[in-house]
Amino acid sequence: MRLLVSQHNIGKWAAYYVYKKIREFKPTKSKPFVLGLPTGSTPLDMYKELIKFNQQKLLSFKHVITFNMDEYVSLPDDHPKSYHYYMFNNFFNHIDIDHKNVNILNGNATYLDYECKVFEEKIAGFGGMELIIGGIGEDGHIAFNEPGSSLNSVTRVKTLNYSTILASSRLFGDKVEDTPTLALTMGIKTILDANEVLIMAKGLNKSQAVAHAIEGSVSSMCPVTALQMHRKAVMLCDEYAAFELKLKTIRYFENLKDEYYNLEQEVATKGFTN
Ligand code: PGA
Repeated sequence: MRLLVSQHNIGKWAAYYVYKKIREFKPTKSKPFVLGLPTGSTPLDMYKELIKFNQQKLLSFKHVITFNMDEYVSLPDDHPKSYHYYMFNNFFNHIDIDHKNVNILNGNATYLDYECKVFEEKIAGFGGMELIIGGIGEDGHIAFNEPGSSLNSVTRVKTLNYSTILASSRLFGDKVEDTPTLALTMGIKTILDANEVLIMAKGLNKSQAVAHAIEGSVSSMCPVTALQMHRKAVMLCDEYAAFELKLKTIRYFENLKDEYYNLEQEVATKGFTN
Protein backbone atom coordinates (compact mmCIF):
# COMPACT_ATOMS: atom_id res chain seq x y z
CA MET A 1 0.00 0.00 0.00
CA ARG A 2 1.30 3.42 -0.92
CA LEU A 3 0.91 6.59 1.14
CA LEU A 4 0.86 10.02 -0.40
CA VAL A 5 0.65 13.05 1.86
CA SER A 6 -0.23 15.75 -0.62
CA GLN A 7 0.55 19.43 -0.35
CA HIS A 8 -2.44 20.09 -2.61
CA ASN A 9 -6.18 19.90 -2.25
CA ILE A 10 -6.62 16.11 -2.22
CA GLY A 11 -9.93 16.34 -4.08
CA LYS A 12 -8.18 18.05 -6.96
CA TRP A 13 -5.35 15.55 -6.78
CA ALA A 14 -7.83 12.67 -6.99
CA ALA A 15 -9.63 14.32 -9.91
CA TYR A 16 -6.35 14.64 -11.77
CA TYR A 17 -5.63 10.97 -11.06
CA VAL A 18 -9.04 9.89 -12.40
CA TYR A 19 -8.57 12.16 -15.41
CA LYS A 20 -5.20 10.58 -16.22
CA LYS A 21 -6.41 7.03 -15.71
CA ILE A 22 -9.44 7.43 -17.97
CA ARG A 23 -7.43 9.23 -20.67
CA GLU A 24 -4.71 6.58 -20.64
CA PHE A 25 -7.29 3.77 -20.78
CA LYS A 26 -8.90 5.29 -23.91
CA PRO A 27 -12.34 3.81 -23.21
CA THR A 28 -14.72 2.90 -26.04
CA LYS A 29 -18.27 1.54 -26.13
CA SER A 30 -16.99 -2.03 -26.24
CA LYS A 31 -14.17 -1.36 -23.73
CA PRO A 32 -15.63 1.00 -21.11
CA PHE A 33 -13.77 2.29 -18.08
CA VAL A 34 -15.42 0.89 -14.94
CA LEU A 35 -15.15 3.31 -12.04
CA GLY A 36 -16.22 2.84 -8.42
CA LEU A 37 -17.32 6.00 -6.63
CA PRO A 38 -17.94 7.22 -3.08
CA THR A 39 -20.15 9.82 -1.44
CA GLY A 40 -19.40 11.91 1.66
CA SER A 41 -17.82 15.29 2.23
CA THR A 42 -14.27 14.29 1.26
CA PRO A 43 -14.87 13.63 -2.47
CA LEU A 44 -16.88 16.81 -3.14
CA ASP A 45 -13.84 18.75 -4.42
CA MET A 46 -12.95 15.83 -6.68
CA TYR A 47 -16.40 15.88 -8.25
CA LYS A 48 -16.23 19.67 -8.75
CA GLU A 49 -12.89 19.35 -10.49
CA LEU A 50 -14.01 16.43 -12.67
CA ILE A 51 -17.03 18.47 -13.76
CA LYS A 52 -14.60 21.24 -14.81
CA PHE A 53 -12.48 18.77 -16.82
CA ASN A 54 -15.63 17.54 -18.51
CA GLN A 55 -16.99 20.99 -19.27
CA GLN A 56 -13.62 22.10 -20.63
CA LYS A 57 -13.78 19.02 -22.90
CA LEU A 58 -10.57 17.63 -21.44
CA LEU A 59 -12.33 14.47 -20.26
CA SER A 60 -15.41 12.58 -21.41
CA PHE A 61 -17.50 10.13 -19.37
CA LYS A 62 -19.33 8.77 -22.44
CA HIS A 63 -17.70 5.38 -22.12
CA VAL A 64 -17.42 5.29 -18.35
CA ILE A 65 -19.57 2.91 -16.27
CA THR A 66 -19.89 3.83 -12.61
CA PHE A 67 -20.74 1.77 -9.55
CA ASN A 68 -21.40 3.55 -6.29
CA MET A 69 -20.09 2.01 -3.12
CA ASP A 70 -23.24 2.16 -1.04
CA GLU A 71 -26.71 3.53 -0.34
CA TYR A 72 -29.01 3.81 2.67
CA VAL A 73 -31.95 1.43 2.98
CA SER A 74 -35.47 2.90 2.82
CA LEU A 75 -34.61 6.50 1.91
CA PRO A 76 -36.46 7.58 -1.26
CA ASP A 77 -34.07 8.26 -4.20
CA ASP A 78 -35.12 11.90 -4.24
CA HIS A 79 -34.49 12.36 -0.50
CA PRO A 80 -31.81 15.09 -0.27
CA LYS A 81 -29.65 12.82 1.88
CA SER A 82 -29.87 9.73 -0.29
CA TYR A 83 -26.72 8.82 -2.15
CA HIS A 84 -28.74 8.80 -5.39
CA TYR A 85 -29.55 12.46 -4.79
CA TYR A 86 -25.97 13.28 -3.81
CA MET A 87 -24.47 11.64 -6.90
CA PHE A 88 -26.84 13.16 -9.44
CA ASN A 89 -26.72 16.62 -7.88
CA ASN A 90 -23.02 16.77 -7.23
CA PHE A 91 -21.81 14.93 -10.30
CA PHE A 92 -23.86 12.99 -12.84
CA ASN A 93 -26.23 15.82 -13.81
CA HIS A 94 -23.24 18.00 -14.75
CA ILE A 95 -21.22 15.63 -16.95
CA ASP A 96 -21.74 13.81 -20.24
CA ILE A 97 -22.28 10.37 -18.70
CA ASP A 98 -25.13 8.27 -20.06
CA HIS A 99 -27.38 7.76 -17.03
CA LYS A 100 -27.85 4.14 -18.13
CA ASN A 101 -24.18 3.66 -17.23
CA VAL A 102 -24.73 4.80 -13.63
CA ASN A 103 -25.19 2.02 -11.08
CA ILE A 104 -26.32 2.84 -7.54
CA LEU A 105 -27.73 0.22 -5.23
CA ASN A 106 -31.48 0.51 -4.73
CA GLY A 107 -32.12 0.71 -1.00
CA ASN A 108 -35.86 0.50 -1.68
CA ALA A 109 -35.75 -2.77 -3.61
CA THR A 110 -38.30 -5.36 -2.48
CA TYR A 111 -35.62 -8.03 -2.24
CA LEU A 112 -32.49 -6.37 -0.90
CA ASP A 113 -30.34 -9.50 -0.98
CA TYR A 114 -31.25 -10.03 -4.62
CA GLU A 115 -30.47 -6.37 -5.39
CA CYS A 116 -26.98 -6.87 -3.91
CA LYS A 117 -26.40 -10.12 -5.80
CA VAL A 118 -27.37 -8.56 -9.14
CA PHE A 119 -25.14 -5.53 -8.44
CA GLU A 120 -22.16 -7.76 -7.68
CA GLU A 121 -22.80 -9.82 -10.83
CA LYS A 122 -23.06 -6.68 -12.92
CA ILE A 123 -19.63 -5.49 -11.79
CA ALA A 124 -18.20 -8.92 -12.61
CA GLY A 125 -19.99 -8.83 -15.98
CA PHE A 126 -17.93 -5.79 -16.93
CA GLY A 127 -14.76 -7.61 -15.94
CA GLY A 128 -14.52 -5.82 -12.58
CA MET A 129 -13.69 -2.24 -11.70
CA GLU A 130 -10.60 -0.60 -13.12
CA LEU A 131 -10.40 1.95 -10.34
CA ILE A 132 -12.38 2.59 -7.19
CA ILE A 133 -12.19 5.77 -5.13
CA GLY A 134 -13.22 5.74 -1.49
CA GLY A 135 -13.21 7.65 1.74
CA ILE A 136 -12.42 6.34 5.20
CA GLY A 137 -14.39 6.52 8.43
CA GLU A 138 -12.92 7.54 11.79
CA ASP A 139 -13.26 3.90 12.85
CA GLY A 140 -11.53 2.68 9.70
CA HIS A 141 -14.67 1.73 7.77
CA ILE A 142 -14.65 1.77 3.98
CA ALA A 143 -17.98 2.16 2.21
CA PHE A 144 -20.38 0.86 4.89
CA ASN A 145 -18.07 -1.98 5.89
CA GLU A 146 -18.07 -1.37 9.60
CA PRO A 147 -15.52 -2.75 12.09
CA GLY A 148 -15.98 -6.50 12.26
CA SER A 149 -16.95 -6.81 8.59
CA SER A 150 -15.55 -9.89 6.94
CA LEU A 151 -12.51 -9.06 4.88
CA ASN A 152 -14.01 -11.46 2.34
CA SER A 153 -17.40 -9.73 2.23
CA VAL A 154 -19.28 -8.91 -0.97
CA THR A 155 -22.18 -6.53 -1.65
CA ARG A 156 -24.82 -6.99 1.04
CA VAL A 157 -27.20 -5.47 3.57
CA LYS A 158 -25.31 -4.01 6.53
CA THR A 159 -26.50 -2.93 9.95
CA LEU A 160 -24.79 0.34 10.77
CA ASN A 161 -23.05 0.74 14.09
CA TYR A 162 -23.83 3.50 16.53
CA SER A 163 -20.77 5.64 15.73
CA THR A 164 -21.61 5.65 12.01
CA ILE A 165 -25.25 6.44 12.73
CA LEU A 166 -24.09 9.27 14.99
CA ALA A 167 -21.67 10.60 12.32
CA SER A 168 -24.41 10.37 9.67
CA SER A 169 -26.97 12.08 11.92
CA ARG A 170 -25.38 15.45 11.02
CA LEU A 171 -27.03 14.90 7.62
CA PHE A 172 -30.40 14.27 9.21
CA GLY A 173 -30.78 17.40 11.29
CA ASP A 174 -28.64 15.90 14.07
CA LYS A 175 -31.55 13.55 14.82
CA VAL A 176 -30.20 10.07 15.51
CA GLU A 177 -33.78 8.76 15.51
CA ASP A 178 -34.25 9.95 11.88
CA THR A 179 -30.95 8.50 10.66
CA PRO A 180 -31.07 5.24 8.67
CA THR A 181 -29.73 2.21 10.49
CA LEU A 182 -29.36 -0.11 7.50
CA ALA A 183 -27.44 0.28 4.27
CA LEU A 184 -26.50 -1.66 1.17
CA THR A 185 -22.78 -1.70 0.59
CA MET A 186 -20.09 -3.18 -1.59
CA GLY A 187 -18.09 -5.66 0.45
CA ILE A 188 -14.40 -5.48 1.23
CA LYS A 189 -13.71 -8.21 -1.32
CA THR A 190 -15.71 -6.25 -3.92
CA ILE A 191 -13.38 -3.29 -3.31
CA LEU A 192 -10.24 -5.44 -3.22
CA ASP A 193 -11.20 -6.98 -6.57
CA ALA A 194 -10.80 -3.60 -8.33
CA ASN A 195 -7.55 -3.19 -10.24
CA GLU A 196 -6.70 -0.02 -8.32
CA VAL A 197 -8.00 1.53 -5.12
CA LEU A 198 -7.56 5.17 -4.13
CA ILE A 199 -8.62 6.08 -0.59
CA MET A 200 -8.89 9.75 0.36
CA ALA A 201 -8.51 11.01 3.93
CA LYS A 202 -8.86 14.62 4.98
CA GLY A 203 -8.70 16.18 8.43
CA LEU A 204 -7.41 15.43 11.90
CA ASN A 205 -10.38 13.22 12.78
CA LYS A 206 -9.19 10.66 10.21
CA SER A 207 -5.59 10.60 11.45
CA GLN A 208 -5.93 7.56 13.74
CA ALA A 209 -7.62 5.49 11.08
CA VAL A 210 -4.93 6.49 8.57
CA ALA A 211 -2.13 5.50 10.97
CA HIS A 212 -3.81 2.16 11.57
CA ALA A 213 -4.36 1.64 7.83
CA ILE A 214 -0.69 2.19 7.00
CA GLU A 215 1.19 1.10 10.11
CA GLY A 216 -1.23 -1.30 11.83
CA SER A 217 -1.83 -4.97 11.23
CA VAL A 218 -4.61 -6.24 9.00
CA SER A 219 -7.74 -6.63 11.08
CA SER A 220 -11.46 -6.82 10.39
CA MET A 221 -11.88 -4.39 13.31
CA CYS A 222 -10.29 -1.75 11.08
CA PRO A 223 -11.61 -2.69 7.61
CA VAL A 224 -9.42 -0.24 5.67
CA THR A 225 -6.36 -2.30 6.70
CA ALA A 226 -7.53 -4.94 4.20
CA LEU A 227 -6.08 -2.68 1.53
CA GLN A 228 -2.61 -3.74 2.64
CA MET A 229 -3.38 -6.95 0.76
CA HIS A 230 -4.30 -5.12 -2.44
CA ARG A 231 -1.94 -5.11 -5.41
CA LYS A 232 -2.29 -1.38 -6.08
CA ALA A 233 -3.82 0.71 -3.34
CA VAL A 234 -2.93 4.27 -2.44
CA MET A 235 -3.90 6.29 0.62
CA LEU A 236 -4.08 9.96 -0.30
CA CYS A 237 -4.01 12.23 2.75
CA ASP A 238 -3.82 15.86 3.59
CA GLU A 239 -1.25 16.82 6.21
CA TYR A 240 -3.83 16.74 9.04
CA ALA A 241 -4.94 13.19 8.26
CA ALA A 242 -1.26 12.21 8.39
CA PHE A 243 -0.72 13.62 11.91
CA GLU A 244 -0.69 10.28 13.75
CA LEU A 245 1.73 8.61 11.38
CA LYS A 246 5.34 8.21 12.44
CA LEU A 247 7.65 10.74 10.83
CA LYS A 248 9.73 7.76 9.77
CA THR A 249 6.76 6.34 7.83
CA ILE A 250 6.09 9.68 6.12
CA ARG A 251 9.75 10.11 5.14
CA TYR A 252 9.91 6.54 3.86
CA PHE A 253 7.07 7.10 1.40
CA GLU A 254 8.27 10.61 0.50
CA ASN A 255 11.53 9.11 -0.66
CA LEU A 256 9.89 6.75 -3.12
CA LYS A 257 10.20 8.69 -6.34
CA ASP A 258 7.51 6.67 -8.08
CA GLU A 259 4.44 7.43 -10.18
CA TYR A 260 2.60 9.01 -7.23
CA TYR A 261 5.54 11.27 -6.48
CA ASN A 262 5.56 12.28 -10.16
CA LEU A 263 1.85 12.95 -10.05
CA GLU A 264 2.29 15.18 -7.02
CA GLN A 265 4.76 17.26 -9.07
CA GLU A 266 2.44 17.25 -12.08
CA VAL A 267 -0.57 18.40 -10.09
CA ALA A 268 1.55 21.36 -9.00
CA THR A 269 2.69 22.29 -12.49
CA LYS A 270 -0.42 21.58 -14.58
CA GLY A 271 -2.33 24.42 -13.00
CA PHE A 272 -5.29 22.29 -11.94
CA THR A 273 -4.95 23.25 -8.33
CA ASN A 274 -6.31 26.79 -8.34
P1 PGA B 1 -16.62 11.72 4.84
O1 PGA B 1 -17.05 10.18 4.98
O2 PGA B 1 -15.98 11.87 3.51
O3 PGA B 1 -17.92 12.46 4.92
O4 PGA B 1 -15.69 12.02 5.96
C1 PGA B 1 -16.14 9.17 4.65
C2 PGA B 1 -16.64 7.82 5.13
O5 PGA B 1 -17.27 7.74 6.20
O6 PGA B 1 -16.39 6.83 4.44
